[in-house]
Amino acid sequence: MKVLVLSKREAVERAALEVVKRIKRKKRSVIGFATGKTMIPLYRELVRLYRAGKVDFSKVVSFNLDEYVGLSSNDKRSFRNYMNRNFFSKVNIKEKNINFLDGGRRNWRSVCRDYEKRIKSSGGIDLQILGIGRNGHIGFNEPGSGEKSRTRKVKLSAMTRTINGVKFREALTMGIGTIMDARGIVLLAFGKEKEEIMKKVLEGRVGRELPASFLRRHKDAIFFIDREAAQK
Ligand code: F6R
Repeated sequence: MKVLVLSKREAVERAALEVVKRIKRKKRSVIGFATGKTMIPLYRELVRLYRAGKVDFSKVVSFNLDEYVGLSSNDKRSFRNYMNRNFFSKVNIKEKNINFLDGGRRNWRSVCRDYEKRIKSSGGIDLQILGIGRNGHIGFNEPGSGEKSRTRKVKLSAMTRTINGVKFREALTMGIGTIMDARGIVLLAFGKEKEEIMKKVLEGRVGRELPASFLRRHKDAIFFIDREAAQK
């Protein structure tokens, strides 16, 4: 695992270049995307690179990490909508290549099973982009999530619901095992609000109480963190 401590701006630029590098490496790369506040500048930078002719998303296949249960893709509060607004609508990714967990469907078991199958049949995720929750969650794998967990329905912790400002109690998320199967991982963490958790993730014990700590066992994970998040 590589940890790069940079200014936020540099971290965003370097992380975006890493994404571009992986896209260029293959004819049809599979990229795992995340949502949240941290990702906004990354998507802005990727859109800038696209407009400058530095990257082509036309053959990229995408899988997003998670979605709230009870929200269909066209709901404004959904992560699918966030991705459209901040990224998909601004680059040349093809609609048919976008994969999303549909939180609006009741048969979540088959939705999750089908997602795992689709990841596999696409050849597996080449690069998974991640943020991190203040309690150490990745995707919506809250503390207690096992290293081998797969895409499933989970309960959101009170902390996550408060921070995200949502009433939804459940979400669908790729599992830790699903994330760890990605060939490469890029994690971004910015700001003072992440300094405590970054210290724990990098120096604490690896285990299910701190889901992001499992990333220390990944062969090709890069953490891009700004100086504030790296303070401790
Ligand atoms: C979102 C996701 C979450 C966020 C995390 C950090 O798809 O998977 O794990 O990355 O909650 O969110 P922000 O960036 O808003 O601090």
